[in-house]
Amino acid sequence: MRTSKKPKRLAILGATGSVGAQALDVFQSYREGFELVGISACKSWERLASLAEAFEPEWVFLADPSARGFLRKTLAKTSVTILEDEQALLDTLSPEALDLVLACVSGTDALKPTLAALERGIDVGLANKEAMLVLGPLLKKAAKGSGARIFPMDSEHAAVERALRGVQSRKEVRKVILTSSGGPFWTLPEEALKHVSREEVLKHPVWSMGSKITVDSATLMNKGFELIEACLLFDIPMEKLEVWIHPQGLVHGILELNDGQHIWIVSEPDMRIPIAQAMFFPWVPPTPLRSFRPFGREFTFFMADDARFPALKLAREAFSASRASVVRLVAANEVLVEAFLHGNLPFWRIVPLLEEFAASSQDEAAPGLSDLSSTLAFLGVTKDAACTLLNQD
Ligand SMILES: NC(=O)c1ccc[n+]([C@@H]2O[C@H](COP(=O)([O-])OP(=O)(O)OC[C@H]3O[C@@H](n4cnc5c(N)ncnc54)[C@H](OP(=O)(O)O)[C@@H]3O)[C@@H](O)[C@H]2O)c1
Repeated sequence: MRTSKKPKRLAILGATGSVGAQALDVFQSYREGFELVGISACKSWERLASLAEAFEPEWVFLADPSARGFLRKTLAKTSVTILEDEQALLDTLSPEALDLVLACVSGTDALKPTLAALERGIDVGLANKEAMLVLGPLLKKAAKGSGARIFPMDSEHAAVERALRGVQSRKEVRKVILTSSGGPFWTLPEEALKHVSREEVLKHPVWSMGSKITVDSATLMNKGFELIEACLLFDIPMEKLEVWIHPQGLVHGILELNDGQHIWIVSEPDMRIPIAQAMFFPWVPPTPLRSFRPFGREFTFFMADDARFPALKLAREAFSASRASVVRLVAANEVLVEAFLHGNLPFWRIVPLLEEFAASSQDEAAPGLSDLSSTLAFLGVTKDAACTLLNQD
């Protein structure tokens, strides 16, 4: 663990995405505090190449092998190393070279590097949801074993983490409230969901994000996943968690204390704030990226009950059933959202199909998920099963 204020050596995995771009923005704003060692992407080789030219990291990694040749040619005259494959990326994640890895990759591709970084004692700023949902206990065990820390970068979890620093003991906390903008459709009657367009689904009222998480925000599966993540990250029982719809997106997390007082974490809805919180921990940035003034602002809240939002119920039930049920929910959701994004499934079918999938799955058939390889194998089998269900729909 570093104790000095030497520049933190940083890798941003998923640097071409929405969170990755904002992490680079934070890096640029506070350049003296950080050294950018590596960046990665999946397919966007042109963007990755231009980031490499602009920031001159030691290495870049492109997950899609078919475009690596173009990247190599473009960066031929630079000193940037192009990592050959995933193993080379994993080998590069060493505490001698890195202090902090920001996991901004979307989907389950983030699992291996996130676990590897934590096992080797490198702190991780975690934007990716799937890693905590699928590997939660393994990530925590790895962090405990190596002394590495996990800093949540999701705005809600970062807010809860910040608020928890304000209490002496978890016993003081009666409730933890995650806020949700409600997504674009929370005021629509259920029947109207059948007629929403792809463009409407992908237009989040508050946040500008990657397409997968934007769809998850419209079904509220994203908030369901956040409930599970909060339990895993902070060891909070699910019964203590509530979701409040807060359309303005200004309050990100709330602790309700035993004495009736609340701790609210309030800021403009700007992902760079929780990203900077993770990057600077245990310090705070020397100047605000974006100031907040409450005058004339509206704050409204509505309880999000499980009956109105079945995705929240699915998440709570999966978490209380088993780790395998959570992995199934994540895998099936990934398959169905992908199908929606490719125009192969109407939006309104996503949650009912997830319900069907959960109801038809049997826990006895699930393996122990005690290590990465058994978990990845189970994830693969479960995605295949979700594809079968999709094809039957
Ligand atoms: N956006 C937000 O405000 C927000 C908030 C909270 C949490 N999150 C979570 O953060 C994660 C990223 O979200 P996002 O909105 O930034 O997604 P996004 O805009 O779709 O970006 C995804 C990034 O991951 C990269 N990627 C995908 N597979 C990869 C692989 N195998 N190796 C390396 N890079 C890979 C993509 O590269 P290409 O560009 O080449 O495809 C891209 O850089 C998600 O898990 C999401 O749930 C996002």
